Order: sequence, then C-alpha cells, then structure tokens
Amino acid sequence: MQHPESNTNRQFDINSYEDYKREYTNSISDPEKFWAEKATAFQWRKKWTKMLEWSFKEPDIRWFIGGKLNITENCLDRHLEKYGNKTAFIWEPNNPDEKTVHISYRELFSKVCRFANVLKNNGVKKGDTVCIYLPMIPELAIAMLACARIGAIHSVVYAGFSSGALATRILDAEARILITSDGAFRGKNQISLKNIADEALKNCPSLNKVILVKRTGEPVSLTEERDVWLKDEESKVSEVCPAEEMDAEDTLFILYTSGSTGKPKGIVHAVAGYMVFTDYTFRNVFQCTREDVYWCTADIGWITGHSYLVYGPLLSGVTSILFEGIPTWPDAERWWKLIDKHKVNIFYTSPTAIRTLETYGTELIEKYSLQSLKTLGTVGEPINESAWHWYHKNIGKEKCPILDTWWQTETGGIMISPLIPVKEQKPAFAMFPLPGVVPVIVNDKGEELKGNEIVGNLCFKQPWPGMLKTVYKDYARFKKTYFSDYPGLYFSGDGCKRDKDGHYRITGRTDDLIKVSGHLLGTAEIENAINQHPDIVESAIVGYPHPIKGNAIAAFVISQNQRNDSNAIKKEIASLVTKTVGPIAKPEQIYIVMGLPKTRSGKIMRRILKKIMLGEKKDFGDVSTLIDPDVINKIIQELSLVESTTQGS
Ligand code: WT7
Repeated sequence: MQHPESNTNRQFDINSYEDYKREYTNSISDPEKFWAEKATAFQWRKKWTKMLEWSFKEPDIRWFIGGKLNITENCLDRHLEKYGNKTAFIWEPNNPDEKTVHISYRELFSKVCRFANVLKNNGVKKGDTVCIYLPMIPELAIAMLACARIGAIHSVVYAGFSSGALATRILDAEARILITSDGAFRGKNQISLKNIADEALKNCPSLNKVILVKRTGEPVSLTEERDVWLKDEESKVSEVCPAEEMDAEDTLFILYTSGSTGKPKGIVHAVAGYMVFTDYTFRNVFQCTREDVYWCTADIGWITGHSYLVYGPLLSGVTSILFEGIPTWPDAERWWKLIDKHKVNIFYTSPTAIRTLETYGTELIEKYSLQSLKTLGTVGEPINESAWHWYHKNIGKEKCPILDTWWQTETGGIMISPLIPVKEQKPAFAMFPLPGVVPVIVNDKGEELKGNEIVGNLCFKQPWPGMLKTVYKDYARFKKTYFSDYPGLYFSGDGCKRDKDGHYRITGRTDDLIKVSGHLLGTAEIENAINQHPDIVESAIVGYPHPIKGNAIAAFVISQNQRNDSNAIKKEIASLVTKTVGPIAKPEQIYIVMGLPKTRSGKIMRRILKKIMLGEKKDFGDVSTLIDPDVINKIIQELSLVESTTQGS
C-alpha cells in the first residue's frame, strides 16, 4: 500500500471547534475507522488486517494488527523526492562561537543509513536493544533512527544521569551495545561521558561494544576490542541501507521512567500505534506547517524529545531546532537570541525553564523582537498561573496561545491540550482531551465522578494508539501500576479537576512520585541510594513546593552513629544521591531525625512529613495507625532547631 508523497503535506484535521467536536465524536464512536483514516497517509509495506484488540482487565492492547512498515521510511524516505533539500534539523551547539549546522532531510537520510550499517557491522540485529547515552548532538537523533531502520530497539538514557542509573538501565534492557561520546558540553561545564560510561560498564559484563562519537575531543581510555570510534566505523560501510520490515506491534523503543519501587520502569512503545499517534497529535496540537520553524527545548533523553523533537516533527517533514546547551549560558538571553536568529514560530518548553528565566527579569528579553513566535507550549508539570502570565506577556507578547500539554512517558503523545483554533485560553488548564482520549475522573473508591466541577484521580477508559505496550520484562508491574487501582481503567497517577465548563486542569501527582524541575523521581529510588550510606539506618523522601523547580526534595534520615559532624553526613548523602541517581535527585534539605512516622505495618506516612514541610504544626489528620504518634512532635522540634541554627549562622 504505497501512498504518493503528497500525503506528507497534509493539512490539519482540526481547524475549528466544530472540527474538534466532529473528530472527537468519530474517534469515540468508531475508533477503528477513525484511526484507519489517519493511518492511510503513511507508507505501509502491508496494510493491517485488524485495527484494534484490547482489554484493560488482563491488559493487552494491540493496534494495526498484521500491518508491516518501517517508521524511518515515514520520517525520511517519504520526504526525499520533493523535500529532500529542506532542513530537518538546525543544530545549535552549546558554544555560541561554534558554527550552526543545518541538516537536510536528504543528509539526515544518508547519515541514518550509514549509522545503521555501522550498527549492523558491529553485530546489531533486529530485536537487539541498543543503549544510547549521548548529549544533544545530531548523532543522538541519528542513532535512534539508525536503530529503527534495522529494527533494533533504542533505549536512550538521558546524559545527565549518573553511572549508577546508566548501569541499571543497561542491565534491565539487556543492552549489548552502547553508543556514547567522549564528553559533553553543557553550559560552562564539560562532562566526561565516556568516564561515566566506563564506570557503569564495570557492572555490565554482557555489554561488549561501545561506539564512540567524538564531541569534546578530550582524551579517553579505550578498551580494546570493545570501544570503537564512529568515524572509523563509518568509513567501512556504505550509506545505502534498506529499511527492515517491521511488524506494527514490534518494539520501537524502551524509555525508562521512575516508579514507586526503587527500580525504574522500562516503558515499551511499539512502532505503528506510536507513529500514528505522535503524528496526529504533533500536527493538530502545534499546527506546524512546512514554512514554520519549530523548537522543542526538551532533551531527547526524555519522552518529549522522542515524540516531539525526533519522531513527530520528522513525520510531518518540518524544520526543527536541536539545541545542545542550556538557557542560562553564556547568559540568560541565549534562547531569546536563538528565537530571533532562526525566526522560530513554535516554541515548546517546560514550566521550570520559564520560572528560571523569569528570575532574570525582562530587560534581557526586551533586546529581542520575538515577533516570529506564533505559538507557545509547555509540558512536564503543572504550570502555575503567574508563570503562565509571565510567559504569555513577555515571550508571547499577548498574541500567542499557550499549549499546556498534558501527557506521560507512558502515553507516547499528548493526551490533553488547549487547541489553537479554539481561541479560549485558561491559565494553567490543559483544557481538552484529544480525539481518541477518554478521560474519567474517579474518587479514591474508584467511583466515576460524572458531570462538572469535580476533582479526583485521572484515568482513561479506552486505549489510544500511542499507549505503552508493557513494562519491559515485567508484565506484572505493568498491570499493577496502571490497571489495578481502578479496575477496567488506565490510571495516570495524577490528580485532576474538571471545571464548570468541562475543561481539565491537572493538579499533580497523587502517588509516591515527585516532579522536580519536570523530572519524575521515585521516593524509593532516592531512599535506596541514601540507605547505602553506612551510617544511615532509614530514610524518607518527600517533595515540597519550590518556586522554580515546582517541587524540591526533602530527606528525613535516621543515623545510627551520633556523629557530631552532621554537615559532613549531609554532604555525603547529597553526593551519594548524585552519584547513584543523578544531580536532579539531590535533596535540597536533609534532616537528621530520631524517628520516622511509621504505621504498625511498617509503612512510612510520607503525607505527614509533607505536611511538616509545609509548616503544619498540629493538624495531621488520622494518625491512629502510627506506632508512635509523638514522633511527629519530635520531628517538628528537630526541624525548628535546624532552622534556628541555620538562620543564626
Ligand atoms: C507526568 C509525566 C510528558 C512529557 C514529559 C513528562 C506531569 C506532564 C503536564 C502538564 C501538569 C504535567 C504529570 C504526568 N505532567 N505534563 N501539562 N500539566 N502536569 O513525562 O516524565 O513521564 O511525567 O508529568 O504528573 O503524570 P513524564
């Protein structure tokens, strides 16, 4: 079923509120027909025989059954004839003095094919998992697409993760090959990625091949037989690489996300459903045309980068920016400068970044016109109203809609979002479920709350094509995490409100996960790291509101030795967390306490610690299940002691 390339220049499905209503109704009344229509625009080697089979009871969801395709043919080959010379990526290096690189669709295609041949030449086969640990350089996107080209599964690990976190992910995914670089530039820092990888690989004996991309040029030590330079390998192969025919349900990638146990979950996405959903949501949410320049600031190491920096934009054949650096280096006007330089039309970022830049004032912004911008977006955590207004006024000049897009690593693509053709904007509201998305809000007993003006737990009633397949090698955890709290529904872990107009507003996590600067972290993951410290008997992690990060982390720890040097212990704990999980998980506050509020069954009541962090002194709700309710007062006393000494010092 070959389709003419004209289908790569499709317009949007949603151009008005009426369109949205119609699409939404069709997507619910006949999802099979609806998604079949959307899917015909792609190149398939073989059409699916059945659109959908599903159950949320013994969760098993399959889309485009029997279909055969390769996603890279849809991201690349399909555009070449007419748009081969069009820029796919504009790469902006960390250092403003280094040259900007424009990569056309044709160049990207050649680079992907050559890299794919390098992988093959190094023994990678269809179905193998390749771990990618790279900074924001073009090779990161190229490596992912090269995997997809030959049917290998990519597992990208964010380059800000520590060696411990990298090792855990390599082991869980059973990756035998790693793609990394000598180092990474990030603001004024240079990070020796290869050294971190070497540290991780000490614990990963079955990983026997490392492909190294040269980025910083710093010296690295090479392990013979195992480590090879990409450049050398590229010279051995051609740039012709036919795409592997994949089944619709074959795994495209694994991406790890934190869970409520210490071990991260390998979220599995399959080729066809993910492709159709990211394409549909990208086109209709951002409404990006071929003339537009689009910029998503997320790191490719997170799902936002996968779906809306790599796959979504490439499926649409648009030009997007890939930026290696950070917004505050060499100064806090870097982003604004880049927006003017490249005449960016659509700009997608995170609330944390907005709040950080807000602290630098508006003078830096006023140096730039920002007139090219027509749409702004945010993702990753709830955006507070004041940040929303600041973004709207100072960046959007009150003329750009803000798309507050709600979704998750697990959902593959955007689920709830404001819509550009619907002019109405409500600060901090994600607004409308997209076609195919059926939210239900339930109370803690699992009863559906019907009607409007309600608050509860956000669940979904029907499958959507981008939803995860499973948790890698752990179907039981997949079932337990998403389908057991509220049987028959997919549970997101978020709280949500539906207002009087039926618009959705996300209120934040309701489980043991914490969003810090948009990064999802598990309390258990951080506690496990802290508990490795020889003096620490037990620890409890909670999140508390932070003006820039959204949430910050407080650690309550019990130390077995009454060491006088509590500051030294705190430093050791902080560096242990940095080393084991990564700098993003470092606790902002560490309190050494005599006891923790525990129930008779041994569970730590984190909600009490949270309340203490919020300054609560007496109203702790039901504490009857605590072994020692007096522990609360002791903690409050210990905290006020710490506070008075720090204020005094
Ligand atoms: C969690 C998923 C989806 C890409 C990045 C995060 C929170 C995400 C919003 C938003 C309020 C949001 C939720 C969600 N979240 N977007 N627009 N408003 N909260 O992916 O790391 O899998 O995190 O991010 O809590 O469950 P993720």
